[in-house]
Amino acid sequence: MIKTDVCFEEMTQREIIQYMDETVKPEEGVIPAYIMGDPAIYDLEHKKVFLKTWLFLGHESEIQNNGDFITRDLAGYSVIISRGEDGVIRGFYNMCTHRGMKLCRADKGNKGRFTCPYHGFTFKNNGDLIGVPMQKDIYGGNLDYKSMGLHKVTIEIYKGLIFGTWNENPEPLSEFLGDFKWYIDLAVGRTEMEVIGPPQRFVINSQWKIGADNFVSDSYHTMVTHGSIAKLGMVPSAQYSKKGYQVNTENGHGCNVGMPNPLFAFPEELIPEYKANLSADQFEVLSNLKNLIGTIFPNLSFLVSHTEVKGQAVSNTTVRLWRPIAVDKMEVITWFLVEKNASEDWKRRSREAFILTFSPSGIFEQDDTEVFTDITAAATGQVPLSKNFNYNYTMGQHRVPVQDFAGPGTVYDDKFSEANSRNFYRYWLDLMKA
Ligand code: FES
Ligand code: FE
Repeated sequence: MIKTDVCFEEMTQREIIQYMDETVKPEEGVIPAYIMGDPAIYDLEHKKVFLKTWLFLGHESEIQNNGDFITRDLAGYSVIISRGEDGVIRGFYNMCTHRGMKLCRADKGNKGRFTCPYHGFTFKNNGDLIGVPMQKDIYGGNLDYKSMGLHKVTIEIYKGLIFGTWNENPEPLSEFLGDFKWYIDLAVGRTEMEVIGPPQRFVINSQWKIGADNFVSDSYHTMVTHGSIAKLGMVPSAQYSKKGYQVNTENGHGCNVGMPNPLFAFPEELIPEYKANLSADQFEVLSNLKNLIGTIFPNLSFLVSHTEVKGQAVSNTTVRLWRPIAVDKMEVITWFLVEKNASEDWKRRSREAFILTFSPSGIFEQDDTEVFTDITAAATGQVPLSKNFNYNYTMGQHRVPVQDFAGPGTVYDDKFSEANSRNFYRYWLDLMKA
């Protein structure tokens, strides 16, 4: 029997974790509303999830040339990702080692060295301290430059996606992604991809998990939330999003593979490149792909969808970060990616398709943000916790995984399922308890 009138403010961290263990029951499809709206849970997941796992920072093509850099957020802390004169990509904590000033305040640029705005210490873009104003006079020439390089941030790259972590002893990125790489390859590794333009950013009053959850499993909402697109004739029917597979793998990752598609929505001249980069099975799926929507745990989602622009099927590819700012607020950051070797005309049409659908002004995006903010409001505060209000995540529990799909993971032959969310919250809970 679950207690009511629980108050986290009066409980120790150990008691909160124990309460979560009793009330969050992913396998039974029981997810309490309080995990979306309680500040104690938000603080705990910062420590247990965001300071422990790999988090997305950006795409290699954003820093193509030696000296290019971007500044990004890693679990609430600014970091500099820079390509050195030797072509190597490195990550640094964006803090001067003298007195802690934020070293670089630009979003991106090209610099061989960074000079601190406070006292003028200068660091090379490989992190080395190389200049201190008047050092001979004021430090007697004794300042130990070697020990004062920028603090390094652990980064690893998979198919152009740059991830970083604060974990001192992380599982290698490749193992963390595991079997899910098969699907990530389809989304962003099918050929050389490049990011066009800076990422688009907007802030909404939504808890971050609602976005991650929506992309990991929720194809079901499409027929209602986005029902207007069927009415407008942009998709054949409101149940358009049901056909295909729902797949999850270890570590909370999951995606929805929309198939079949009689139209090939990728540049045909790149077929030899796709075949060179993908296995025969992966290419077969790509050839029949209608859309691919998923989440890499915890908060990076991706989307490959196709839209008809001026009578022609055009795919567009995006990755998006649900960056938590507060328990009830997140920044949504969306990168538009396109095949680097596609024609300029293809790139333009693909971008147009993105703007029309999932950019901040796109028809899908606006539908979703309305829902996310209302869920957040209803989950916030003491009432959902003390009254023990739960969400129902039992959809698809009666289904058994299929064996005839070529890709790895636990695969269901229907996208209308909440199996991926159950898998996502199981891993989330395991980390929260660790
Ligand atoms: Fe950067 Fe002093 S804080 S030079
Ligand atoms: Fe949606």
